[in-house]
Amino acid sequence: MNQDMEIKGLNVSFVDHGRETKVVTDVDATFSEGSITGLIGESGSGKSVLGMAILGLLPGSAKVKGTCLYQGRDLFSLPEKEMKKVRGTEIALIPQNPTESLNPIRTVGRQLVECVTAHEKSAKSRAGIRRAGIRRDELLGRFGFQDVGRINGSYSFELSGGMNQRVVSALGLMNCPKWVIADEPTKGLDSILRRQVYEVLKDIGRSEVRGMLVITHDITLAKALCDRLMVLYGGCVMEKGNAQAILEAPMHPYTRGLMDSLPEKGMRPIRRADRDKERCLAGCRFYPRCPWGEARCGTEMPPETTLLDGRTVRCFHYA
Ligand SMILES: Nc1ncnc2c1ncn2[C@@H]1O[C@H](COP(=O)(O)OP(=O)(O)OP(=O)(O)O)[C@@H](O)[C@H]1O
Ligand SMILES: [Mg+2]
Repeated sequence: MNQDMEIKGLNVSFVDHGRETKVVTDVDATFSEGSITGLIGESGSGKSVLGMAILGLLPGSAKVKGTCLYQGRDLFSLPEKEMKKVRGTEIALIPQNPTESLNPIRTVGRQLVECVTAHEKSAKSRAGIRRAGIRRDELLGRFGFQDVGRINGSYSFELSGGMNQRVVSALGLMNCPKWVIADEPTKGLDSILRRQVYEVLKDIGRSEVRGMLVITHDITLAKALCDRLMVLYGGCVMEKGNAQAILEAPMHPYTRGLMDSLPEKGMRPIRRADRDKERCLAGCRFYPRCPWGEARCGTEMPPETTLLDGRTVRCFHYA
């Protein structure tokens, strides 16, 4: 498989009143053409920040270091004008907060069409608008809306959270992107709709785009959808590799803890977190919660070790 996107040495911090807080540390990742990668981890681990960094969507208070090579260009050093084009036609985001992404004073149907006409001059013609309308209705249908006409005429505040979530999923796909970053695409959906969204993403991931990064809390979704997996804790990638191998036999103590806390695995929670303590550590951020922790874990960052099956694990236990 060809490498389609490569992140090297990604570090993100936020500066507030002169104080810098690191939220993503030394992330290296390669995304091969045709693969779907899952990004999992607890709330606040830096999943959305990582996705937004790729798309240059972080606020001015964010400091981003590293490179993100895509089609021979470093996305982190592209001027905003170029990045806008990338976001419009190349890499689409299905954002985590649908209500923030939808305009409350425009109907959903109009926004979906405008999302195409805003990027393409040719799409502004009558035929272009008609084509966009056909794609819109087709996507809404695929995302489980039976009464597409009513949805098109509705405003986002008239729809439920789950409905808006599916509308923004359709919005992200309107321009037939080549790459998709989907941030919590199944959030707030019941099991039937989750299954439906999963089927659409799988279909699109397999046949319509070159790559997909799915950010999710939904381990069942990750298991069913992803070829590769990255497990993030405190902004560090703790384990990455083949999704099935990691989910069936997790190696990092954090990934093991995540699996053990699933209902089907006995719901044994990981020890409580102390975020302030973790932030002060020079070493592994998971150390205060780790059942295998030893003194050096708090002071030294463990290296990423590659295991025999090709996965990497950031833990002294394997170094
Ligand atoms: N604009 C911002 N300014 C300052 N800190 C931020 C900003 N955005 C995110 N953060 C911080 O970065 C860290 C990672 O946040 P992020 O939103 O990426 O977490 P997440 O893994 O996506 O969590 P969730 O699963 O809840 O969506 C958090 O500590 C968060 O408070
Ligand atoms: Mg998030």
